[in-house]
Amino acid sequence: MAPTPTARTPEPPRPRIPRGSDPTPRCPARPRFSPPVPAGRTGGVLRRRACRLQALRLRYRPAPVSGPIRPGAPLASVSPMRIGLLGTGNVARALAHGWRAAGHDVLLGSRRPEERAGLGLPVAGLDETAAHADVLVNATPGGVSVDLLHSIGAPALAGTLLVDVGVGLSDDFSALTHPNSSLGELIQEAFPLTPVVKTLCTMDSTTMTAPGELTEPGTVFLSGDDAEAKRTTGRLLTDLGWPESSQLDIGGITTARGQEHFAFLFMGIAGGVGSHTFNIKVVTRRSADTF
Ligand SMILES: NC(=O)c1ccc[n+]([C@@H]2O[C@H](COP(=O)([O-])OP(=O)(O)OC[C@H]3O[C@@H](n4cnc5c(N)ncnc54)[C@H](OP(=O)(O)O)[C@@H]3O)[C@@H](O)[C@H]2O)c1
Repeated sequence: MAPTPTARTPEPPRPRIPRGSDPTPRCPARPRFSPPVPAGRTGGVLRRRACRLQALRLRYRPAPVSGPIRPGAPLASVSPMRIGLLGTGNVARALAHGWRAAGHDVLLGSRRPEERAGLGLPVAGLDETAAHADVLVNATPGGVSVDLLHSIGAPALAGTLLVDVGVGLSDDFSALTHPNSSLGELIQEAFPLTPVVKTLCTMDSTTMTAPGELTEPGTVFLSGDDAEAKRTTGRLLTDLGWPESSQLDIGGITTARGQEHFAFLFMGIAGGVGSHTFNIKVVTRRSADTF
């Protein structure tokens, strides 16, 4: 039997988009984000970065955020993004494979790209990776990350979302390199025009991209001052397999300290369970009990 045609509600007329407000990655006449031009620079790089940030914001059309993102808040997967990962180690490779599997365009950034040809992933120099990226991920040793980012330069990073996964630990993992602060805070302080989001550093690299292989995913934390940057990061976490209900926004970038300093408890738990492949989960009372 032929299907009965269903009645369709007539679509409301589409609003006219005024000239100059086309939400494409082309630069509009007056970017909303206009970083100051340092002496000796033409401002071209900064303008391109400003346009990129604006294009990202327009592309994702985030819903207004009035406070921290709570588990269960609606998030959707993002359209394919160019993700540059600084570092070519365990974390960078794991995340690159995870995001590539989700359809993103990934590029690893190395100090010596010519020596990293056999990784099965595209690799470029640090500057080229930063220039390529809509989103940059810091997956370098936390004790050197700020200097490494300075070598790329603040103008090249301005307006680019930086997802920071690093933890500053001494070579023997016995001490924090930023005991009274955090790498996330130091990066945000050094690069004020670059929204920084700290996440994923409370687990092993295998768990970062395979939370579904645990008995349950547990909790992944987000710290950062920019609500839109956190929403975009949340969507990228969704693409790695983190359900929206597992993502917990714990506040501004100062809360990165808690995530990073968790490293010692992580090592203790690993010793207790005899494995690095685990996660922790935030649990609350059944009845509403908030402040
Ligand atoms: N491994 C984990 O499970 C895990 C979990 C949570 C957080 N983290 C944090 O994530 C970051 C990356 O961890 P990872 O395990 O991927 O480290 P890794 O295997 O040692 O890789 C770090 C990468 O950073 C690059 N790099 C840039 N400057 C460097 C320098 N001065 N010395 C050494 N490497 C340098 C290197 O790539 P090129 O040589 O190609 O430049 C290297 O491959 C660290 O901050 C770590 O604390 C790791």
